[in-house]
Parts: sequence; C-alpha cells; structure tokens
Amino acid sequence: MMHHNFDQSPCRQGTDSLKWQRYGDALPLWVADMDFPTPEPVLTALRERVAHGVFGYGALPEALTETLCARMADLYQWMVTPEQIVYLPGLVCGLNVVCRAVGEPGDEVLVQTPVYPPFLAAPGNQERQLVTAELTLETDGKRLYYTFDDTVLAAAISAHTRLFIVCHPHNPVGRAFNNEELIRLATLCERHDLTVCSDEIHCDLLLDGRRHTPLATLSPEIARRCITLMAPSKTFNIPGLGASFAIIQNPQLRQCFKQALRGIVPDVNILGLTAALAAYQHGGDWLRELLLYLTANRDYLADTVIRALPGIQATVPEATYLAWLNCRDAGIPGNPQHFFLEQAGVALNDGATFGPGGEGFVRVNFACPRARLAEGLERMRGALLKR
Ligand SMILES: Cc1ncc(COP(=O)(O)O)c(C=O)c1O
Repeated sequence: MMHHNFDQSPCRQGTDSLKWQRYGDALPLWVADMDFPTPEPVLTALRERVAHGVFGYGALPEALTETLCARMADLYQWMVTPEQIVYLPGLVCGLNVVCRAVGEPGDEVLVQTPVYPPFLAAPGNQERQLVTAELTLETDGKRLYYTFDDTVLAAAISAHTRLFIVCHPHNPVGRAFNNEELIRLATLCERHDLTVCSDEIHCDLLLDGRRHTPLATLSPEIARRCITLMAPSKTFNIPGLGASFAIIQNPQLRQCFKQALRGIVPDVNILGLTAALAAYQHGGDWLRELLLYLTANRDYLADTVIRALPGIQATVPEATYLAWLNCRDAGIPGNPQHFFLEQAGVALNDGATFGPGGEGFVRVNFACPRARLAEGLERMRGALLKR
C-alpha cells in the first residue's frame, strides 16, 4: 500500500525555486529536482536541529560516515573505510575538484556525450582540455536507447588524456550501465592508464527494481584509479542543502583530491549533514514508494510520447527521473526547447547544452505529480498539432 501521496505536492511558486522561477508562468519540467517534499523523517530531523537554535561550525559527522560505510557494504558489498570518504558541498564542485586534482594544465579529460552540462565545463574551468566521444544512439523508430562503442572512445583518447568522467547512471540518456559495459569502461581506463571519476549521483534512482553497481566495485585495479561521487540530494530531494561525498580508496589519489579542494571548498553545511543522515537512516520506505511512482510516470511519459507527440521519440530511462526526447524529425521550426517554451508554455532543458549529439533534443523531468506531467505533455501535443 502507498503511504506517500506523490499525486500531491506543495506549491513552489514564490519559494525562490530555480525550477519554478526562471521561466515565469511556464510549466517547469526542466532542472533536476523533484516537486515532492523530502521524506518526513528528514523534515523531523531538520526541525529538531533548527529548534536547537545554535548553528556553529560543524565537526566531521561520524554517524553519517558510519552510515555511509554500512550502506556501501549492505547495498554493494563494498568495503569502504571512514577515511576514504571526503565530504563535498555539491557534486558539480566534486567534478571540478577532480579535474583540478588529476594531471596538469593542458591535459585532456574525456567525457561521453550528450551529458549533464557541467561535465563539459569542468575541464575548461580547471585549465584542462575537454575531449568528447559520442554515445551510440539506437532506435526502433519509436523509442531511443543508448550504448557506447569502445573504438569511438579509444579514438578520442590521446597521450595527453589523463581523466575519464563517467556518468553512471547516465544523465540525460537514462542508462544504468550493465556489468558487461562497466567492465569495458574499466578495461579502457586500465589500457590507457586513465584516472576515472564515476558520477553516481543517480545511483539510488534505478527503476524496474534494477540494482546499481558502483564502477569501483568491479575490481581492485579499477578501485585504485577511481573517484566515486555520490549524494543523497537527488534521491531524497535535498539538492538545495548541498551535501555530497566522494569515495576515494587510493590514498595518493585521495591526497591529490584533498589538496585540490584545500582552502577553496567549504565544509558541508550542518543542516545538509543532518538531512543526509536522517535520509539514509530512515528514508528507505519513502524511496521504495518514490521509485514505483517514478516508474509509473516514466511509463506514462514513454507511452504518451508514442501515442500523442507526432515525430518525437523518447528514451525509456532505466534510471533517473529524466527522459530524453528526439525532436529532430518532428518538423519543429528552430530550437525545440524554445518552441515548447513559447508555443506550449512548458520549460524543458535544451539538448544542445548537453554537447555533441544533443542538438534537436530536449530533456524532460518527470519527478512531479502525474497530473502535472500529463498537463505538460498535453500542452506539448497542442503546440505540435497547431504548428
Ligand atoms: C550527473 C549529475 N551530477 C551532478 C549533479 C548536480 O550535483 P550538485 O547539485 O550536487 O552539484 C547532477 C544534477 O542534476 C547530475 O545529474
């Protein structure tokens, strides 16, 4: 039985929400936060912490560290020790610190596109060179599915490539890479002696009962060269509280990472840590129900696109609450993000900002009440029919 009513969500207008503010009155199905309140135990923990009234500097959160180590052991049989965890005030921050920590200015950083835009910006921010390898798009004419080709990846690697940033599960294409694919990625990193950063922020959001496998758990060889980034922020809808962490098992690599953030990156704020602990300790039931709701929203979206949006094809994401729509054959004049914003009053993410392979696509966030998603898709249908 469902206890949490995801069909209802509080009004976010007038709450200084990025998602709800940027595009005025348009229905916002863009930036990746959910319209649902965080689980009740997280709210209770935050209320209690606020009621204390003193918000001095925090100390290293031992209970959270223990909880994380236990969680990695339980979920993935991954034996992580407390010193291997480095807290971060955000994962985008983590991506930038990784670029700064690995190699020298001018070295190359490889990413697979289309991808979450900060992957494209982080290398340049840190005086590194971005190199890209496009994922392989497959389609049965209705649905989209992405894989990758080892030869395309290998061709993008040069003697100057030091770092490979992987998005697993992948935003925006919704793949949870399987073990065979992870082994291919690991083999490539070993063959070319690359450090790998695996952004696993969506690791708790696998749909259809799938299980996540952290890249670093494949073998001691890959663990040695891997920086894993994780967070409770997407899972429990607390991204505005900025609590996340890296797991780095190789002591030298961890040292470089800590050196790169020293004096620049602040500690995680104490409310973020409070929320993270409560979420991991007591958010499990809520998360199980959320995943059922998101799976149903995903199915609704995938079916509606096929049935009602002429010329558009969509992914059926294995993970994340983000769908990726190919609008290239829909006869839309100009940029589809602009078209849907102006003609449908629906705010989506522009695929072009996700790098090579993204032009002509839009990303849809389906972590909202079903009725809102239905309204958005109906508006999109209306705009397509009017055109
Ligand atoms: C793959 C990926 N990494 C990082 C982030 C953002 O992380 P943060 O808000 O902790 O900086 C997102 C948010 O959408 C994401 O999809």
